Amino acid sequence: MAICFDKETKTFYLEGKSTTYAFFINNFGYAEHLYYGSKIHRDYLLFTRSGSTQTFQATLPGLDRQPGFNTYNAMSPEITFFGTGDYREATVHPKFETGDRLTQLHYHSHEILDEKPRISCMPSLDGGKTLVLHLYDEVKSFGADLYYTVYDDCDVIARRIVYINNSDSEIAIERAYSFAFALPTADYDMISLFGGWACERQLERTPLHHGVSSVDSKRGSSSASLNPFVAIVGKDTNETSGNAYGFNLIYSSSYVLKAERAVGGEVIVSGGINDFDFEWKLGAGETFETPEAVIAYSADGIGGMSRELHDAYRNHLINKKYAHAPRPILINNWEATYFKFTTEKLSAIADAVEGTGIDTLVLDDGWFGKREDDSSGLGDWVVNEQKLVGGLDAVINHVHSKGMKFGLWFEPEMISEDSDIFRAHPEYAIGVPDRKRCYSRHQFVMDLTNPEVRDYVVNSVNAIVRNHEIDYVKWDFNRNITEFFSLGLDAEYQSEFSHRYALGLYDICERIVNGNPDVFFEGCSGGGARFDPAILYYFPQIWASDDSDAEERTRIQYGTSLAYPLSAMSCHVSAVPNHQVNRITSFETRGNIAHLGATGYELDTTVFTDNDRAAVKAQIENYKKMERLVLDGDLYRLENPFESDYFAFAIVSKDKSQAHLTCYRSLGHCNPHAHRVVMQGLDKNKEYYIPELKIIVHGSTLMNVGLTVNFPKGDFQTKVYHFEEK
Ligand code: GLA
Repeated sequence: MAICFDKETKTFYLEGKSTTYAFFINNFGYAEHLYYGSKIHRDYLLFTRSGSTQTFQATLPGLDRQPGFNTYNAMSPEITFFGTGDYREATVHPKFETGDRLTQLHYHSHEILDEKPRISCMPSLDGGKTLVLHLYDEVKSFGADLYYTVYDDCDVIARRIVYINNSDSEIAIERAYSFAFALPTADYDMISLFGGWACERQLERTPLHHGVSSVDSKRGSSSASLNPFVAIVGKDTNETSGNAYGFNLIYSSSYVLKAERAVGGEVIVSGGINDFDFEWKLGAGETFETPEAVIAYSADGIGGMSRELHDAYRNHLINKKYAHAPRPILINNWEATYFKFTTEKLSAIADAVEGTGIDTLVLDDGWFGKREDDSSGLGDWVVNEQKLVGGLDAVINHVHSKGMKFGLWFEPEMISEDSDIFRAHPEYAIGVPDRKRCYSRHQFVMDLTNPEVRDYVVNSVNAIVRNHEIDYVKWDFNRNITEFFSLGLDAEYQSEFSHRYALGLYDICERIVNGNPDVFFEGCSGGGARFDPAILYYFPQIWASDDSDAEERTRIQYGTSLAYPLSAMSCHVSAVPNHQVNRITSFETRGNIAHLGATGYELDTTVFTDNDRAAVKAQIENYKKMERLVLDGDLYRLENPFESDYFAFAIVSKDKSQAHLTCYRSLGHCNPHAHRVVMQGLDKNKEYYIPELKIIVHGSTLMNVGLTVNFPKGDFQTKVYHFEEK
């Protein structure tokens, strides 16, 4: 990895593992994008410029009648701005004291840093080599520092912008995106991940039309409705070949990602904090930091793009202590008991899994305050000793005496109307004076923009975590924000609310999650509604969905894997008929699908027979054989359940000595055709032993001829295969 600057052509070359990102500073000081793709020589690239021969364009200020490159509107940007002839989506929209909204950000200087500076108060990737490009508007004393970081172990470039007010007066920033990125003229498709409760991250691929296509959230959470991720891929790009660019925001509040296709065919992708309902007052001398965007590139199609993102997150985002470490194999009591549990019942759930390999009991919702259902108690983080006779420690001691770890559920950001804390401090809940609040799951959201509220949350959660021997915390977030108003903010700062909520969330995560480094924290949000890289920074794994049905999970996990590694997804084996869809799938199928992630169990183990217990034990032994692949391996998506009845994931170790293949067929057919699955990612010259077939075959054969998968009769069947280098 290297970053170099050619003084003669004023070209920056940012070289990652196998990519080059290049832009140059043109005659006017404008940073013009040249290239992002497979690694190239540091050649002169200015011949690639399209230039402006377009008539009826606004010329650059002061350059009327000059031929050639004379309008911003036709230059490939690194950042765009409004009011001087560029009609494309502006990256930044400042409003100055005079009321004018024009800015021209031109090259001032640059730095190349070996140590990546952290964003204060927000998660970001670590490591890598960083270029800081200082752009400046002399007229307004307004600056933008563009950060670019490249890595030698993954093909992503991390980008963000810091806006700087060097003037004597306040600037109202009405839009402050993190990046603008130009793709060469071509026909593209856009892939996004839409969803809702129990159907998170469903894949959608559509042609990129002229104009602006976008995904966003206005919910104060990255949300299940659209993940903060898009891929822009060539028309002919598929899983294995073609250009694929992935864009992901390390951000958990309202965001936007846009792809704008111009008349000439060029596409500009930009985004960051959602500028809807946003305005940030930047005082004299102040700076504003935007969240980091991760841009991945692969010439090996959508699969290649995902693998680059997975490596970036496992190596540079997720807490190093846990990123590659075996995850707890847990039993969670939620679907076993919901709110109706006792100390004895919980102890019995733990007793029933003794010797199976399940190593952690997680006590879910309902252990605190007055919490017999979901209508009360949130915010009262005090053990309900009437329900848990003997207190929390009775359960914890019992679980620990079995050699298991103990986990506990919290929903730190929430407050119930029927709670002691709300009765004492109704102002802790987000709300607008004189208006009734909207309920969602009967609850309100804590105003995390208020430091007093944050202190209350941190102190009450930490008191439980630190006064009991808690090994694991499941951190839930079961509704989106409404009202978007804080009593603690003056009127002119209210449009800062959504971003301030994110900063408040990161502050409490610093103090609770990072403040308890020996406790393992899992993220959750009414299923997988806040599954974003910022959450992944604090929580090494996130509950992927409340829908634990294996059939539905093939699509949820497939969609999630576009951006996020398998180890980031919590996937549980639950009871049948499934509580969400009432479907019956075999124990084997549920296990095989749940094993494609950080696995666990969520059912009533007290009804287990000896056979059930033996089946769980065998299942976990099998999981242990593939665990390292789940944690560190390269994922190859062989069959897409959004397109057919089949799903297949292969995971291959980095040294290609081991692999695992899970195949799934949704509906069985009478007189079915033989189903061939062709492997990917193996070493073509290595020989692999496949114990399930008792054969030794070369990688080249497996990756060309493939395997014939004979599914057992019936619906929702799986087959798994292991590959060991001989
Ligand atoms: C959410 C979570 C569930 C469970 C419940 C508890 O729905 O996704 O796993 O923890 O909350 O109320």
